[in-house]
Amino acid sequence: MNEIVPGHILKRHQDNILIKKKYDPDTLKNLKKSIKKLLDEKNGVLISHYYVDEEIQKLTEETNGCVSDSLQMAKFGQTTDANLLVVSGVKFMGETSKILSPEKTVLMPTLEATCSLDLGCPIEDFKDFCDQYPDREIVVYANTSAEVKALADWVVTSSIALEVVEYLDSQNKKIIWAPDKHLGKYIQTKTNADMVLWDSSCVVHDEFKFQGLQKMKALHPDAGVLVHPESPMDVINLADAVGSTSQIIKAAKELNYEKFIVATDKGIFYQLQKENPNKEFFEAPTAGNGAQCKSCSQCPWMGLNSLENLERTLIDMKNLIEVPNQIALEAQRSLNRMTSF
Ligand code: 13P
Ligand code: SF4
Repeated sequence: MNEIVPGHILKRHQDNILIKKKYDPDTLKNLKKSIKKLLDEKNGVLISHYYVDEEIQKLTEETNGCVSDSLQMAKFGQTTDANLLVVSGVKFMGETSKILSPEKTVLMPTLEATCSLDLGCPIEDFKDFCDQYPDREIVVYANTSAEVKALADWVVTSSIALEVVEYLDSQNKKIIWAPDKHLGKYIQTKTNADMVLWDSSCVVHDEFKFQGLQKMKALHPDAGVLVHPESPMDVINLADAVGSTSQIIKAAKELNYEKFIVATDKGIFYQLQKENPNKEFFEAPTAGNGAQCKSCSQCPWMGLNSLENLERTLIDMKNLIEVPNQIALEAQRSLNRMTSF
């Protein structure tokens, strides 16, 4: 795995993958009961990404929270009546919720969960990069720090990245794109827009491999291929549908295949299977498997969220997300453009 993942997180990730911890039925029942009670008492709501633990996704659904892609997570926080948002995902998702709903309390089950794209785009280096291109619009992916968002003109998620760049290109704007080089390349290829790309990638999607996927397609010639655009371009070129997590789920429903090979984090399989009980889903091959497990199609940071730390956070009201005022105000401008696009 990319050396950007700290050793202790990597170790915990590999333990999780290898041991595949399951909750015993009594523990699960008690944890869910306790979390439901805490949410009621505190007027809280769960907001969870499709990549987190299946049991967190189920509990979020049972409590009328929001399980979604990163764009809908951001929007849901603004519209819910709850004044406590409990965000299961990675740090940028909690920060985005807080910036868009500053009057609400935002908690996360763990503050250790970050993202290789966020880590790969430190504000000082990014600022120096942007200073080289003063005539360009700065478009950043949501998977960035609040500081990077504050510097940007636009924030996008993969659900709307293509459309936003198409729009800017139609206005003859030249673009700085950061941080995901694969998503940037994909958008550049689709739109022909004038873009300079920051060089970073997602540790999960970067591992999907063209040759492995080609072999797998040969084994399952009747399967459709669904790919998240954080994957390398040669993998994207093999896809029947390319899109954000919610767009992948939609494509699995709408495309006329009974089987799919899926190149994204395997947390999404819970929703894919739930929405399509009669269809079959296979994980796309990654660079390392088994003992050489790299990401193994599972984000090491998303995997840090559990029902246990979710309950603990609610009991102690800890892991509060705070964003300094000036940065929040500046980031709000580019985030508002995202939510209202
Ligand atoms: P989505 O916006 O597609 O949910 O993606 C978020 C993410 O982190 C993908 O790796
Ligand atoms: Fe970041 Fe990749 Fe994890 Fe998504 S899957 S949160 S892009 S490291």
